[in-house]
Amino acid sequence: MQPVEQIPLTDNEASLQLDSDGSLRHLLTLKGLDKALLTDMLDDAQRFLRPMGGLPARSTSLEGRTVANLFFEPSTRTRASFDLAGKRSGADVLNLDVNTSSRKKGESILDMIYTLQAMQVDIMVVRDASAGVPAYIARNVNDHVSILNAGESDVSHPTQGLLDLLTIRQHKGKIEGLTVAIVGDIAHSRVARSAAHGLQALGVGELRLISPPALAPDPEEMPFARLLDNLDEGLKDADVVMALRIQRERIGNLDGIPGIDEYFANYGISAARMRTAKPDAIVMHPGPMNRGIEIESALADSPQSVIEQQVTNGVAVRMAVLERVARTMAAT
Ligand code: NCD
Repeated sequence: MQPVEQIPLTDNEASLQLDSDGSLRHLLTLKGLDKALLTDMLDDAQRFLRPMGGLPARSTSLEGRTVANLFFEPSTRTRASFDLAGKRSGADVLNLDVNTSSRKKGESILDMIYTLQAMQVDIMVVRDASAGVPAYIARNVNDHVSILNAGESDVSHPTQGLLDLLTIRQHKGKIEGLTVAIVGDIAHSRVARSAAHGLQALGVGELRLISPPALAPDPEEMPFARLLDNLDEGLKDADVVMALRIQRERIGNLDGIPGIDEYFANYGISAARMRTAKPDAIVMHPGPMNRGIEIESALADSPQSVIEQQVTNGVAVRMAVLERVARTMAAT
């Protein structure tokens, strides 16, 4: 058995995910994707949105294809979102509860992948708590199989990044020149990393990453961002404010990380704190939310909040990504 821990951490996912002609074969990371491709993907996703209350968009782009959702880490919303995206695109969708099945029996990841490949699964959507797993699988599958990263350790969560970019673009018209503040446990956040890479590629004006010092990323990791530990300074004149989920286990249990009340007082996003941001600033959260810890409950439900729209956009973005990799597949 290949233990997950020995999977190499790679830094060239960016090239692995594109074919020689630049078309998207796998989606592993937003890092290294250029503005033109990202913009095309957002435009594609926008086509899959319909007014609420009517029927959701459907397409036939995945007809005859099979998508397997392999969630090695628990997930409700991302998994439901990929499930609906696959079904609304006409695919057969297989949802595997891999926490409790094969991996516990000691079957290696690759044996499971080869089994699915033999059943003619075309697209595997993978979430895993270990860094490097999606790229490792992508490197080992047949040419016609695509791997989509649905959340990889604290490294990346590219479809979340795309849905965040789409939501911002819908409200602000563009990404260029905006001031975006991401607040919370940046050090452990794949959501923050994917948002940061996408925002950077699309020409964000200023990206501020705000966290208690103990949860700040390495300053060299995202040199294009400004790291701050003061919330008011970080929110000043921001166009977009994104709160991150703080894992309850981390609160008060790590050196330098405050308890719940103190965390909310210092880093919780509330209507009062939002007064330093621009009057038309939007409030985002990837979910699941800890109301009253990283975000004030009333603010999450207020007109400033675009949190539900993020969820809606998630399905559209995933339909667009599925369609794109299916197109690449058909061309090879
Ligand atoms: C995020 C995740 O799982 O990475 N949620 C999500 O995808 N909707 C954020 C989180 O769990 O903090």
